Amino acid sequence: MTSQEFYELVQSRKSIRKFKKDPVPREVLERMFQQAAFHAPSGKNRQNWRFFVVQGQKRDEYLKYSQKSWLSIKDVLQKRLKPSLYDFTERFFFTLGDAPVLVFCYSHNDNEERYHTSIGSVYMAVQNINLACQVEGLGCCTMGAPLEIKEDVDKFLGVTELPEYKKGELELLCGIVIGYPDHNPPKAPRQLENRITWID
Ligand SMILES: Cc1cc2nc3c(=O)[nH]c(=O)nc-3n(C[C@H](O)[C@H](O)[C@H](O)COP(=O)(O)O)c2cc1C
Repeated sequence: MTSQEFYELVQSRKSIRKFKKDPVPREVLERMFQQAAFHAPSGKNRQNWRFFVVQGQKRDEYLKYSQKSWLSIKDVLQKRLKPSLYDFTERFFFTLGDAPVLVFCYSHNDNEERYHTSIGSVYMAVQNINLACQVEGLGCCTMGAPLEIKEDVDKFLGVTELPEYKKGELELLCGIVIGYPDHNPPKAPRQLENRITWID
């Protein structure tokens, strides 16, 4: 891969919120974890990411929770989004854009690493998944919305039964909806200035 191809890959990624119903083969998902997510850097190389992959009937069941998360977010979005985008986003929360795969991303926090380093490490892996989707012809949208209903999600996934959860060490950070894209949204604008302070 040339450096130009790399930059094109990074810049061509965009959040997808409408998917074909086709399932994603298990081997593709495994490749994205084994060959991308798990190669992210992490504080003290603790690889403290934990992923829960939800598909099939359980995925359908999650829609009612997604709808609940919408109730917590909608008022803020109503002020921020123009009406057509607000309606699209509402539909997205009700259907998750028909995405066949939901990945819930957790951090296993403990005393060996600072809290923010643990959190950051998981998001490194999340970005690798975003890029892997791009090369696999898949689309995805990383979602903070599940945090609105954190306790519901923990119970829904059965995470509450795990010993590390009982010790207060497992924390939901985000969801990622994944599937084959069924729209081609415009690229969200980027602010290329006033984000760096050069000191020398
Ligand atoms: C941590 C995080 C949380 C996000 N949460 C949501 C979400 O709950 N719902 C949603 O529709 N998009 C969500 N997004 C996607 C952002 O809206 C999107 O990345 C941003 O608008 C830039 O667009 P792009 O990804 O197409 O470049 C989230 C992105 C990140 C990184």
